[in-house]
Amino acid sequence: MKILVTGASGNVGRYVTGELIKMGEHVVAAGTNPQRLKDIFKDKVDAVYFDFTDKNSYKKALENVDRVFLMRPPHLGKPEDLYPFIDAMKSHNIRLVSFLSLMGVEKNTIPPHHKIEKYIEELGIPYAHVRPGFFMQNISGVHSVEIREKNQIFIPAGNSKTSFIDAEDIGFSVAVLLHSPEKYKNSAHTITGPEALDYYQIAEILSRVTGRKITYAKPGYLKYRRYYIKHRGLEKAYVNVTVALYFMTRMGTAKDVTNDYFKLTGKTPHSFEEFAIKNKDCFM
Ligand SMILES: NC(=O)c1ccc[n+]([C@@H]2O[C@H](COP(=O)([O-])OP(=O)(O)OC[C@H]3O[C@@H](n4cnc5c(N)ncnc54)[C@H](OP(=O)(O)O)[C@@H]3O)[C@@H](O)[C@H]2O)c1
Repeated sequence: MKILVTGASGNVGRYVTGELIKMGEHVVAAGTNPQRLKDIFKDKVDAVYFDFTDKNSYKKALENVDRVFLMRPPHLGKPEDLYPFIDAMKSHNIRLVSFLSLMGVEKNTIPPHHKIEKYIEELGIPYAHVRPGFFMQNISGVHSVEIREKNQIFIPAGNSKTSFIDAEDIGFSVAVLLHSPEKYKNSAHTITGPEALDYYQIAEILSRVTGRKITYAKPGYLKYRRYYIKHRGLEKAYVNVTVALYFMTRMGTAKDVTNDYFKLTGKTPHSFEEFAIKNKDCFM
């Protein structure tokens, strides 16, 4: 039987796919742009057109599939957007779904991940939720523009600390779970990096790695919001969600360090310094 990976071209999905291939699993890589998936994974996967908002795409994607990596594309803000596909998984007797959730949602009902976890559980689908901290890829991705162009980290996180995790480590954890569905049935795993860092420390590490002086600008919420909407042209809804997340971060919700990654994989998660060295080009 095969494993369906949704968001297979995304930060986490591409590592889930790569790790499952290494484990000898047969992967169906899914997304709205199957050609992109063929370009990334060549003939190592079955690439399939799949859209959460198009119920007609579910049947083909679930053909001969008994396990699923489920992720919520960031622009689908309502938990209900994922319910039709979760219903389809229920009818299909999926043996394990590993949902890409968020650290702390077991106690925080505001992010959509909370309701999505509950919906999967209520339907009785065997689950292994993965609740990661903030991705290191946020810094090498969306926030790298200001680092490259202004030597500045422009994030409204105040003095808070974050236990950043590399999406590669999340992908490996998910693959371990999906590879042993009986062992991890009805479990939840809070996956973090090895240490909690504030953005001054992130700036120091990036300065060392790039050889340039990089500073943390520490903007307020309004300045950040205006800049990302007006200057960067990002969608208002997306920026508003990030403001809410940085508000929560300042409340201390992103700083816990766990050893769930080690328990699952027997390995130590990548440090931010290792990540920055590996992804130096993103900051140059
Ligand atoms: N960033 C963080 O720090 C963080 C921390 C914890 C949890 N999370 C959660 O992680 C999730 C994002 O994961 P990610 O960063 O790996 O994703 P991502 O890199 O933003 O990629 C999004 C993926 O979704 C696919 N997609 C877009 N629209 C789709 C649709 N309508 N139907 C099906 N697929 C669609 C895209 O592929 P196509 O374009 O080919 O369709 C792409 O592969 C979010 O739910 C977020 O809340 C993020």
